[in-house]
Amino acid sequence: MEVVIVPDAKEGGELIAEAMAALLRRKPDALLGVATGSTPLPIYEALANKVAAGAVDASRARICQLDEYVGLPAGHPESYRSVVLREVVAPLGLGADSFMGPDGAAEDLQAACDAYDRALAEAGGVDLQLLGIGTDGHIGFNEPCSSLASRTRIKTLTQRTREDNARFFDSLDEVPHHVITQGIGTILEARHLVLLATGEGKADAVAQTVEGPVSALVPASALQLHPHATVVVDEAAASELKLADYFRATYAAKPEWQGL
Ligand code: F6R
Repeated sequence: MEVVIVPDAKEGGELIAEAMAALLRRKPDALLGVATGSTPLPIYEALANKVAAGAVDASRARICQLDEYVGLPAGHPESYRSVVLREVVAPLGLGADSFMGPDGAAEDLQAACDAYDRALAEAGGVDLQLLGIGTDGHIGFNEPCSSLASRTRIKTLTQRTREDNARFFDSLDEVPHHVITQGIGTILEARHLVLLATGEGKADAVAQTVEGPVSALVPASALQLHPHATVVVDEAAASELKLADYFRATYAAKPEWQGL
């Protein structure tokens, strides 16, 4: 696992957007897995800026979703489908046909989950999966004690996650209890995992993810099992890392051509 400590969220966004741009230059139709929430927004902004400036052509990129709320009416502005279309797909100049995600409004939700896992495999697998991290260590919406081998399925959000996400809704009552999420096993199949964490509120979860034992109690610790996982953290989110100086020195000495 590579840990990169950046001064702030904007630089983290720039760094990851450049890694995505480099991937698209090598593989123009790469399948990019995106996360929602506040953390990745600087990445999407930086990548859209690169596209607008002509620094990368994203016209053949494909975008796929990590998770989705269950039970929000179609077109709800906070459904993750709406968020990804608004924050990622449209700013990159892509259409909805470049996008795939699980159907949180399906009548048979488990069939929709299975269909999504199949669709990801049929699309050739995810080339680069962006991840955020919950204050309780979740990735996607794999809450603590999710199986490390799990596939896309329905999960129940913890009260803490519902409270963390209430800022996107008018009240806590409106935050759905149930979600569809790519499983940890599904996420681990992506070729490159890139987790961005910013702010002091994530420091404990980051330290447990990077330096703690691999444990279902901290779902993000499953990144330790992946051969190409990159964790990008700002100074605040890095504040509880024991090996912070080692991570800084390692990255400072890394040849630029290697990228992430
Ligand atoms: C959202 C997702 C979640 C978020 C996490 C952090 O698609 O997968 O794991 O990444 O809840 O959210 P923020 O970035 O809003 O702190």
